Amino acid sequence: MTFTVAVDGPAAAGKGTISRALAAQFGLAHLDTGLLYRAVGAKGGDPIVAARTLTTEDLQRDDLRSMAASEAASKVAVIPEVRAALLDFQRAFAAREGGAVLDGRDIGTVICPDAPVKLFITASPEVRAHRRWLEVGGNEAEVLADVIARDERDRNRADAPLKPAADAVIIDTSALDTEAAIARAIATVNAIRAT
Ligand code: DC
Repeated sequence: MTFTVAVDGPAAAGKGTISRALAAQFGLAHLDTGLLYRAVGAKGGDPIVAARTLTTEDLQRDDLRSMAASEAASKVAVIPEVRAALLDFQRAFAAREGGAVLDGRDIGTVICPDAPVKLFITASPEVRAHRRWLEVGGNEAEVLADVIARDERDRNRADAPLKPAADAVIIDTSALDTEAAIARAIATVNAIRAT
């Protein structure tokens, strides 16, 4: 059986950093599934058509990390047909030989409900907004408002809302620095692998 690590949580909680570190530590491939939604939003036009025709070039655009792309991603992510179109790609990635880490919002609940390791990485909205603001600059209050609006949309959508899987291990990074958060995630994976 392939080894899959599902990493979910809200924006700027540290999912990406932790997922990349886990992939390096355990020799796993890594997929940032948020990029798929960002690429669909950035493509413009009908989002369902965009999701069905997504190419690897679409994932390499250099504007996918912008606030505009994140806003567009969160909007297209509420559309069930968009989510359905991206499902097979994510499941195929998760099943690759050698194992994989996938990070997103619904990996442990919908994409890989049988993953042996499920982590839910979270932090307070203020801490997450501050981290995002350090990256993107601008007005911190506006960044906080954006984080809260995005949380609302991700948590309250009907299809695959953001929530921890029943068997997810929750890691709150509000009071942890990067090293401590990574160490906690690695220790959690090791503990589960040892069982
Ligand atoms: O992780 P991120 O900030 O790149 O995600 C961008 C948006 O995509 C986010 O608002 C929610 C959505 N998303 C999702 O619905 N499901 C995923 N598995 C990953 C991201």
